[in-house]
Amino acid sequence: KKGNYDYYMQKEIHEQPDSLTTTMRGRLIRGGGDNVKGVLLGGLKDHLRTIRRSRRILFIGCGTSYHAGLATRALVEELSGVPVTMELASDLLDRQGPIYREDTAFFVSQSGETADTLQALEYARSCGALCVGVTNTVGSAIARGTHFGVHINAGCEIGVASTKAYTSQIAAMTMIALALGEDTLSSRSRREAIIDDLFNLPDNVKEVLKLDYDMKNLAQELMEEQSLLVFGRGYNYATALEGALKVKEVALMHSEGILAGEMKHGPLALVDETLPIIVIATRDATCSKQQSVIQQLQARKGRLIVMCSKGDADLMCPNGGCRVIEVPQLQDCLQPIINIVPFQLLAYHLTVLRGFNVDQPRNLAKSVTTS
Ligand code: F6R
Repeated sequence: KKGNYDYYMQKEIHEQPDSLTTTMRGRLIRGGGDNVKGVLLGGLKDHLRTIRRSRRILFIGCGTSYHAGLATRALVEELSGVPVTMELASDLLDRQGPIYREDTAFFVSQSGETADTLQALEYARSCGALCVGVTNTVGSAIARGTHFGVHINAGCEIGVASTKAYTSQIAAMTMIALALGEDTLSSRSRREAIIDDLFNLPDNVKEVLKLDYDMKNLAQELMEEQSLLVFGRGYNYATALEGALKVKEVALMHSEGILAGEMKHGPLALVDETLPIIVIATRDATCSKQQSVIQQLQARKGRLIVMCSKGDADLMCPNGGCRVIEVPQLQDCLQPIINIVPFQLLAYHLTVLRGFNVDQPRNLAKSVTTS
């Protein structure tokens, strides 16, 4: 079943152009003739008005699934105008945080069986909230326990580290954001640009997968390191957290994703000539702030690896001296799907080089069914 690949994780990383295509199949309307460009999500279409009228939307999940929510939070807020609160399922349960009948709670889970997410669902239902599932497993406990939902259709994911499910979750939640946003004149060009780039997504993921060899080289350079920091912000704060999670869970290397806006509030103290730092600085509304982060890190002789949009290497790293990862550029809200791929490849190669089990990392289970 692994075909030409040595490991499921490797196979699942490389099949993302296909899994993303399946996630979007039959759900995107190209426009033209009498058709307005748009999305059609069967599970959601009868409930859109209710969700738009909610007082608040909650994204609830664990691990990678939480990160997928974080990556799409800003777009849902932008297009729907409804504030989105992020909740790690275990923390919501620990706090017994308030949830109201006027809330809509989205439960994001690849397996649909994660104990904390499932318990958070039971809790939210008991509070009277409208509960929506975003899962990859038809008939799973979360798919059954929610009022309705969206299947991400990424196909079965076997590697314990989530890869293709993450990118499909973001694609599915981007379509949810588009469905929730009303097609107003002022938002039309933005909506159409996102839909066009959803169509362009599989080809761009194919393109970024060509970095495989470069990421293997980078892994060779980093394989003896103790630690790796990842700085991101805006749409790519999620990429920083998820990239660091991939490295720590499979390569068993300490790695930390940091919101770049927090750099001066502590993390800057760690910077020296030896600690490797990846800065995500692809083109979007926050990239001039990332430029200044890079300058400040360079001033402290940080060992930088900069991820930027194709052609931006000189702009983002004018003094040279840093390693650059150039990636294809899409609409800002879809960039997390592109930007995570080099991290997945890096984590995979680091794991192989360090001699650890790729598909079954130490101490971890694919589906966490106990709290
Ligand atoms: C990381 C990973 C975990 C899961 C988390 C939630 O690669 O796989 O962090 O994302 O255990 O699992 P699901 O999505 O099945 O609820």
